[in-house]
Amino acid sequence: MLSKSQARVFFLGGTGLFSAIFLALSVDSMRQIPKLTRQDQLTDQVVRGKRIWEDNNCMGCHTLFGEGAYYAPELTQVVARRGAPWIKLFLDDPKKMFPGQRKMVRYGFSDQQKDDIIAFLTWCGGVNLQGFPAKPPLRDLMRPTATTASADLAGQPEIFRTICVACHSVGGVGGVVGPALDEVYKRKTREEMIAWIADPQGLKPGTAMPKIEMPVERRIEIVDYLLGLARTPATAAPVQPVRPAVDPKDFE
Ligand code: HEC
Ligand code: HEC
Repeated sequence: MLSKSQARVFFLGGTGLFSAIFLALSVDSMRQIPKLTRQDQLTDQVVRGKRIWEDNNCMGCHTLFGEGAYYAPELTQVVARRGAPWIKLFLDDPKKMFPGQRKMVRYGFSDQQKDDIIAFLTWCGGVNLQGFPAKPPLRDLMRPTATTASADLAGQPEIFRTICVACHSVGGVGGVVGPALDEVYKRKTREEMIAWIADPQGLKPGTAMPKIEMPVERRIEIVDYLLGLARTPATAAPVQPVRPAVDPKDFE
């Protein structure tokens, strides 16, 4: 049994010791924050982006750093996930990218505002959150195996891989807003495709395909890639059903 004075020493000593540890850890965390958040990279543009984020209550639907509402996707890593060109296009008219699904507001931001938002989200993506957001443990394993049809996705030009696939598929991978482009070389000539990509609205007013600004060399690169699909018989073959790399039964 402890005597009363021993209990007091025990209580005071324990409280003192653990308060000291708590304070030391707090100070240590505070000291690391500027480095973890890369405070030196908080430019005016990032600050403007954050203001737009707050003024429009993006957090009413989205989470950032895990904070916010769960109606819409977590955005901490969205720039790494989608790329800036895709986000810019998406903010122009969110509904176009996801027709018939949940809706994000069409804000009508100026180019400058879109760049500010992307700068802010880029900064957020660079903050060291010590592992957040966690990757679902099976996600990499559950990726569809590369079928022969999608084997040459690696050869896709940058703009195609980051923007066009939001609406078009090749080899069964990509969006369904526009037609699959595996065999577009049978429907359109080189010149027709180059002209179409340069100004879809001009050629077909009201089409859902937006005008995507890029230098003419990029357009030619993309069209040559699409024409090249004719020489890759595997890609032109019917799309293979996508099969999970892992049989869920393996985990039972
Ligand atoms: C009314 C709810 C709502 C608000 C408010 C909202 N969003 Fe969204 N957002 C969505 C939904 C839903 C999606 C998923 C795509 C879709 O269905 O349109 C989305 C998707 C996104 C994406 C693409 C995410 C991805 O991984 O594909 C970005 C970027 C984005 N929102 C940015 C913003 C920004 C910036 C704001 C504030 C200016 C904002 N959102 C406000 C509902 C909202
Ligand atoms: C927001 C969705 C969207 C994006 C992004 C998009 N497209 Fe389209 N695209 C469409 C739609 C919808 C059509 C069908 C057009 C129509 O007939 O109105 C189309 C049609 C086409 C066609 C003609 C297809 C055919 O069968 O004749 C080509 C080629 C094409 N897109 C290439 C591209 C390229 C290259 C990009 C990227 C630079 C791109 N698209 C980005 C929606 C999109």
